[in-house]
Amino acid sequence: MSEITNEIKKRRTFAIISHPDAGKTTLTEKFLLYGGAINLAGSVKGKATARHAVSDWMEIEKERGISVTSSVLQFNYGGFCINILDTPGHQDFSEDTYRTLMAADSAVMVIDASKGVEAQTRKLFKVCVMRHIPIFTFINKMDREAKDTFDLLDDIEKELGIATCPVNWPIGSGKAFKGVYDRQKKEVELFSDTHKGTTTGEVKTVEANNPELDWLIGEEAKTTLLEEIELLDGASAEFEQELVNKGELSPVFFGSALTNFGVETFLKHFLKMTTSPLPRMSDQGEIDPMTEPDFSAFVFKIQANMNKAHRDRIAFMRICSGEFHAGMSVYHIQGKKEVRLSQPQQMMASERKIIEKACGGDIIGIFDPGIFSIGDTLTTSKKKFAYEGIPTFAPEHFARVRQEDTMKRKQFVKGINQIAQEGAIQIFQEFNTGMEEIIVGVVGVLQFDVLKYRLKNEYNVEIRLETLPYEYIRWVENEEIDISRLTGTSDMKKIKDLKGRPLLLFVHEWSIRMTQERNEGLILSEFGRS
Ligand code: G4P
Repeated sequence: MSEITNEIKKRRTFAIISHPDAGKTTLTEKFLLYGGAINLAGSVKGKATARHAVSDWMEIEKERGISVTSSVLQFNYGGFCINILDTPGHQDFSEDTYRTLMAADSAVMVIDASKGVEAQTRKLFKVCVMRHIPIFTFINKMDREAKDTFDLLDDIEKELGIATCPVNWPIGSGKAFKGVYDRQKKEVELFSDTHKGTTTGEVKTVEANNPELDWLIGEEAKTTLLEEIELLDGASAEFEQELVNKGELSPVFFGSALTNFGVETFLKHFLKMTTSPLPRMSDQGEIDPMTEPDFSAFVFKIQANMNKAHRDRIAFMRICSGEFHAGMSVYHIQGKKEVRLSQPQQMMASERKIIEKACGGDIIGIFDPGIFSIGDTLTTSKKKFAYEGIPTFAPEHFARVRQEDTMKRKQFVKGINQIAQEGAIQIFQEFNTGMEEIIVGVVGVLQFDVLKYRLKNEYNVEIRLETLPYEYIRWVENEEIDISRLTGTSDMKKIKDLKGRPLLLFVHEWSIRMTQERNEGLILSEFGRS
């Protein structure tokens, strides 16, 4: 095996998904602690200060104290090179959050034990399912009063439609939390608060049949544990790596990120169960990083104006195969020409650093003079293949955009188009009129503010946004259909995208089905093609 394939094999590239406040940031921070990337938890991503440090590119992030864009963290642990794709932790997340999942090989889902599956987890989960990537569940905050464990698992299975397989099992919760039982090793890891989770700390384990356990966790807790385990062994799905790989079975772990309990155990198991970089589909068939020696990557995110003075953009790409070195020339498939990849950057905990080398599985940010679009492929392979595009995710909020000063039409059109090209917003037009009326669709409402802010600051254009009541958008897949003759519901609106493709907006979800019933053969889809 070549040196580079060896390097790629060590890569584990995953995204962490959760509903805000479930503990994603805390868990990530503890991972970094074990990876030695930081020495003391709290120094990287403390709520108030450090989150900014990671992606401190936009004033709006600072003003609001939230991360608008996703970032990537890399660290080494146990012989693996780990890339964590962080997703914006705010409710008002954007399409970037979805796209980030396109760059990951697996996902870790963090769930608050007292809440179970929440709205945002559900949304992100859909994308994981679409991609059939392995999904691992970390049920967090066991040091607080939790829901019944069986109910939590039931919740995941019913809400998300995925089978679960607990790798360990909690003993009590809240004040009565005693630790977790490792089902494979048949031993109990005793809960201890490692200095409020600031340090890595040893975990004490006791075999389940050791009589000492009675007084270590209490007789009552032990009896409950034995009963639950018996029930579980009879009821839960068996661990099957193949089903995990296909994203049909989620291994479940319990712990408390804050007190740093169960984190290293999770990390160890997870690294064994998750995959190294997976083959990706291209227009010339699957490209396998283990057999494709040439460099190839695709752009999944474009971050604009990190430096306002230069109006520069950074294109984030996921390397799929081969090796990257700074300044190399690659072929840009969509642009049909050679480009030099300069100023490669990688995110490391709290700073951006210039990198010299990277390989399949890694994520890099490249200076973009405005030539890249989301989904573009870059490669040194003579085969000149293009990776499958990244779908356009359905926006859920819509607004009509009006310019305050109509004299600045040119700047307005330029600005709004550029921002749309970066993928922060989607723009549409009324079905029957021209460019005069623009409708903007976003995945998270925060993007409206981002749009307003950027048009003003970068293009000197003031806009007014009039929010529209629609929440559902569907792409019309039938090419032959005459949209003007479509019979819809009263809450339906016909619009088109910039390529003139027809779309429908709805206020109510049930209207989608009704419209389909009224128009035989009408095919509506939730994901658009870019
Ligand atoms: P997020 O990135 O998913 O949004 O969540 P984050 O890690 O920021 O955690 C949200 C809150 O939950 C934080 O409290 C954090 O300390 C707390 N938390 C995370 N993991 C655990 C856990 O295992 N047990 C308990 N009891 N709490 C946990 P906060 O008060 O909002 O912030 P802070 O003031 O503690 O920073």
